[in-house]
Amino acid sequence: MGKKKEFALEKKLDHVAFIMDGNGRWANLRGLPRYLGHREAINRLRDIIDACREFNIKVMSFYAFSTENWNRPQDEIDHLMDYLEEYFVKEIDYYDSIGARLQISGDINRLRPSTRKACIDAYERTKNNQNFVVNVCLNYGGRDDIVHACKLICQEVKEGKTDIENIDEPYFAEHLYTHGLPDVDLMIRTSGEVRLSNYLLWQNAYAEFVFTDVKWPDFNRKAFIDCLIEFQKRKRRYGGLKNG
Ligand code: IPE
Ligand code: IPE
Ligand code: MG
Repeated sequence: MGKKKEFALEKKLDHVAFIMDGNGRWANLRGLPRYLGHREAINRLRDIIDACREFNIKVMSFYAFSTENWNRPQDEIDHLMDYLEEYFVKEIDYYDSIGARLQISGDINRLRPSTRKACIDAYERTKNNQNFVVNVCLNYGGRDDIVHACKLICQEVKEGKTDIENIDEPYFAEHLYTHGLPDVDLMIRTSGEVRLSNYLLWQNAYAEFVFTDVKWPDFNRKAFIDCLIEFQKRKRRYGGLKNG
């Protein structure tokens, strides 16, 4: 019997973005408190980052906490922030070892001081790494991102640093939290929900969407490859007629 052919990614994929959803349901199904779903979720990141390295995907975005997630009970928010802080401290050596740079998208000023500090420290430690970008969306909302960019640009116009005529799509994109990153090629949401939940609204304009029923704490290399296989089948036309 022939050896099963390993998956090879043959389509251009510069940026994959994940909505890591289903942690609470994963825990509930096991009779555990929701926060243990979040703890397990953090443990999946390294495998997924390694898979991206394997397939030479240079930019990964992870939706960690939305501007709407402040509506959750304080106890759950506290656990989430605890795990994120722990992650930023624990994983920084690994980021360095693979040449990954951490980018944070979202307004970190609203975070508690210890979480903000963990973000800034990890960002500073990794800012010169050049092989990969791990973009963690934290207190992130797509609408907030766009309003924030508008404010930055208005300020520049007000101070005479630019003219309204200079504002085009690339200029606008450079004022988003994701500045410097390419548009999203593939957006994956776990747990069976089929919506964007205010995620990277501008950046996902021409992304392919793949929705999987797998809950994030169960999302592993194999589940990711299943999404990549689906992505590989898509015809990307960008409004034209070519089947890219
Ligand atoms: C996603 O899992 C993580 C965050 C939103 C922070 P959920 O906590 O939304 O899990 P479900 O959707 O309730 O199962
Ligand atoms: C989106 O998941 C946010 C994150 C994964 C961080 P939610 O679980 O918060 O989204 P809704 O409430 O189902 O839309
Ligand atoms: Mg959810």
